[in-house]
Amino acid sequence: MADDTTDTKSSNQMWGGRFASGPDAIMEEINASIGFDKKLFAQDIRGSIAHATMLAHQGIISADDKDKIVHGLNTILSEIESGNFEFSRQLEDIHMNVEARLATLIGPAAGRLHTARSRNDQVALDFRLWVKEELEKTERMLTGLIAAFLDRAEEHAESVMPGFTHLQTAQPVTFGHHCMAYVEMFGRDRSRVRHAIEHLDESPIGAAALAGTGYPIDRHMTARALGFREPTRNSIDTVSDRDFAIEFLSIAAIAGMHLSRLAEEIVIWSTPQFGFVRLSDAFSTGSSIMPQKKNPDAAELVRAKTGRINGSLVALLTIMKGLPLAYSKDMQEDKEQVFDAAESLELAIAAMTGMVRDMTVNTARMKAAAGSGYSTATDLADWLVREAGLPFRDAHHVTGRAVALAESKGCDLAELPLSDLQAIHADITDKVYDVLTVEASVASRKSFGGTAPSEVRRQIAFWRARN
Ligand code: ARG
Repeated sequence: MADDTTDTKSSNQMWGGRFASGPDAIMEEINASIGFDKKLFAQDIRGSIAHATMLAHQGIISADDKDKIVHGLNTILSEIESGNFEFSRQLEDIHMNVEARLATLIGPAAGRLHTARSRNDQVALDFRLWVKEELEKTERMLTGLIAAFLDRAEEHAESVMPGFTHLQTAQPVTFGHHCMAYVEMFGRDRSRVRHAIEHLDESPIGAAALAGTGYPIDRHMTARALGFREPTRNSIDTVSDRDFAIEFLSIAAIAGMHLSRLAEEIVIWSTPQFGFVRLSDAFSTGSSIMPQKKNPDAAELVRAKTGRINGSLVALLTIMKGLPLAYSKDMQEDKEQVFDAAESLELAIAAMTGMVRDMTVNTARMKAAAGSGYSTATDLADWLVREAGLPFRDAHHVTGRAVALAESKGCDLAELPLSDLQAIHADITDKVYDVLTVEASVASRKSFGGTAPSEVRRQIAFWRARN
């Protein structure tokens, strides 16, 4: 590095008093965050307007300077929005880019904006506002996805499909019931989002560098102006806390996991072997070599985006885990993780909502599959308990023999002649055939939360009232 006398780089205009020379090129490159934190411009300007207004209200700066500052900041806002703003990497980040432009626009009054404030509380504020807005958006998008599932569930409250455990046919369920399982999952995601909004609803501005400030600021006033419930209570925690970002990423990771399971089901269901659903042309692609193919690319990409989101969560947890209080520059690496995960989550929810709304459900295929694999075996066992008074364990054994017999004959349970069933247990009558159909099986499961169409309709009504 060149010594001070030969260095030609100019020192930073924000802290040039202490520094004789500017940074090395590599220092500038590793240090600058403007490439990504320019995304925070609107929040940065909103925060500065609230701060300047409060400073004037408290008599810390003059009303005249405040007016100049607010006017200048609004000019900068429209410059950035219209693409007429030149971001400079030398100015490091969004905060200093805005402040430097303000100085050009309004002169010395710009220098008063940073009174009683540090970039540490400023970035905590900007980022918190951004995450809050993103959470609100996520909440709306999840509501849309839930609505799509409610519509499909209503349409298919009676459509029978095989229910699986271990991806082996287990018992018949309705497609409506299956859809409602996803409503429960995305409903939990949405309530996590709502809790996260409550958690982060405290204003960081005024914590200053870490210790608070000697100026007579009013943090309640800025909190109110920025739409927060109240100011944060500990200035050290305030500038070192990124829980709100980590909570966003955890919620995104859990929702992503749900979306990915759904994606996996869609991939399986849309194979010719299953043929349960057909994706619309709008949400699938063809193959460049195999003309017959229709690929569920959107579902596959949703599944993959989940991997990215998980990566972001682990990255930020790792960035934060070794940091002593309060602020360290490591924390600048928080933003890209959150921005990337937010983009992935938005895309994944939007693509899923589209796929769920558009896909054609092949109820005939589902019903045929529901009846195969001895899916009503439990119904036979339950019938033996109810009608023949057998203990469930004995009924299970008798049914197992009936399944083995049907398997050896290559037929379904309902296709076994009565004489065969009676040879296994003498008390079996022809009434048993009533419970061996998939419709009867499904209709009988009326326990709260069960798969009977009447229960599924109850679940739909519950969620409709909450969506
Ligand atoms: N660009 C910085 C960040 O994102 C702003 C805070 C800088 N604070 C500091 N003490 N250098 O974290």
